[in-house]
Amino acid sequence: MNESLSNKIPHLHKKGDTTQLFVDGEPFIMLGGELHNSSSSSLAYMESIWPRLVSLGLNTVLAPVSWELVEPVEGKLDFTLVDGLIEGARKHNLKLVFLWFGTWKNASSSYAPPWVKTNLERFPRAQTSQGKNTDAVTCFSRAACEADAHAFAALMRHICEVDGQEHTVLMLQVENEVGILRTTRDRCELAERAFAQDVPTTLTDYIREHANCLTSYLQNAWKKAGSKTAGTWKEVFGEAADEVFMAWHFARYINSVAKAGKAEYPIPMYVNAWLGPQYEGQLPGSYPSGGPVARMMDIWRVAAPNIDFLAPDIYVEDFRRVCCEFRHSGNPLMIPEARSDEQAAGNVFYAVGQHDALCFSPFAIDSVVEPHPLTASYRLLSEMMPIITKYQGTGRMIGFTDDSLVNVGYSAYTGRELRGFECELGRYQLQVHFTKPFEKGKVPASGIIIATRDDEYIVAGLGFTVTFASKPKETKNVEILTLDEGRFEKGKWVAGRRLNGDESLSGKIIYMRNEPSVCIAKIYEYP
Ligand code: DGJ
Repeated sequence: MNESLSNKIPHLHKKGDTTQLFVDGEPFIMLGGELHNSSSSSLAYMESIWPRLVSLGLNTVLAPVSWELVEPVEGKLDFTLVDGLIEGARKHNLKLVFLWFGTWKNASSSYAPPWVKTNLERFPRAQTSQGKNTDAVTCFSRAACEADAHAFAALMRHICEVDGQEHTVLMLQVENEVGILRTTRDRCELAERAFAQDVPTTLTDYIREHANCLTSYLQNAWKKAGSKTAGTWKEVFGEAADEVFMAWHFARYINSVAKAGKAEYPIPMYVNAWLGPQYEGQLPGSYPSGGPVARMMDIWRVAAPNIDFLAPDIYVEDFRRVCCEFRHSGNPLMIPEARSDEQAAGNVFYAVGQHDALCFSPFAIDSVVEPHPLTASYRLLSEMMPIITKYQGTGRMIGFTDDSLVNVGYSAYTGRELRGFECELGRYQLQVHFTKPFEKGKVPASGIIIATRDDEYIVAGLGFTVTFASKPKETKNVEILTLDEGRFEKGKWVAGRRLNGDESLSGKIIYMRNEPSVCIAKIYEYP
């Protein structure tokens, strides 16, 4: 596909230090939800689900498409479900991300078709150190890789045929939470042979050239092993060898699958991670070893150039830390899975506002009971999408949420305890104070603030106040000049009340109530 054509289909575009997803010429943020694993295997089952996804406020659905149903018999491809899902999404004005459950889903090969699962001679299994077969096809099987790539390429060709003009399908997730469990590395014969070989020079060259910007875990392990630029996996990577070795080989396999798919229809493709380690000292193998976790990001980047980015499935408490880790060296943030609790309604403000997330998507969205606070967050973000995307990559936007973890500090100005934070944005110092008490099971204080000019701010979200001060060392009086509440309609501002007097403490403070809303403030200073 030539360049001008590939710019017409969903694609990623670099803007400043960030990456945006473009759909039909406009940047797009996927306000999503991922279906339960089995929901999209039946179009009849999906019938009652679609309208609920719409009323929840989603614009994108993440839906599994499995190898076992696409190619139940070798060489016989069936896209009935794919077509039905595309049709269902279009009818409900929704976009889709397909999740290719191919050779692996959660480190197991349970979604491989029966003709793959039952032929261990042709498609050998990964083995533990006791030489026991696991439930996963080994990533060292060329036959499996070719068969998976063949099916995936056919899927992408089909999507191109039926959706190359309309662009309902925006992205593909290639496999799901890969890696090997219960052992740090695969011990099947093919794997053992590969482990005895030298590390490929493509990888050692990369390590040498990027030694100072590798993830700290990889950098430390490599240095500890003597900063070698050639040798076996054990010699070069020391204690990290098993995980690095598995990451390299999973990534090479998946790169071949993605490459075959992109040759047919080059829309963005990514892999998702079962996170690990999740606590100090957790060993690879108790989370999938070799999966696309943050500390293996460099390995995946070199081994899988056809994978556009690595995406975390975030079920852990410290949502913000994981987002930061996955922004390493320009990796765009996409969150295909997250908890669907009330905190999600706040986390989406943080992910989108602070990290320019391409997508936020709680898992098991078809089980979410309405009313859910996510709907109000999605509605607000959706109406603000043209403004948000305009300011992505400019350094003029922040996003935040109260997760009760590290938001308590002391104000540099008043010395008083502050549940919130202070930051510089535009011309002024902002003090954001969380007024909504943090309670589990309730949507937390959260929001987005954009400095549209040096003295003008869009403030969106709920449960906080904002005050303005001159930057440190300046001693001017700073106050609100005008403050308007309102809403955005397709990116255009529609003003409501002018807020003054009691509603802004006579120009001193912006009060954001406990439901999502938006306002615009102009700020001024005087001696
Ligand atoms: C993570 C997987 O990627 C999902 O498909 C699903 O199995 C969830 N775990 C279940 O919590």
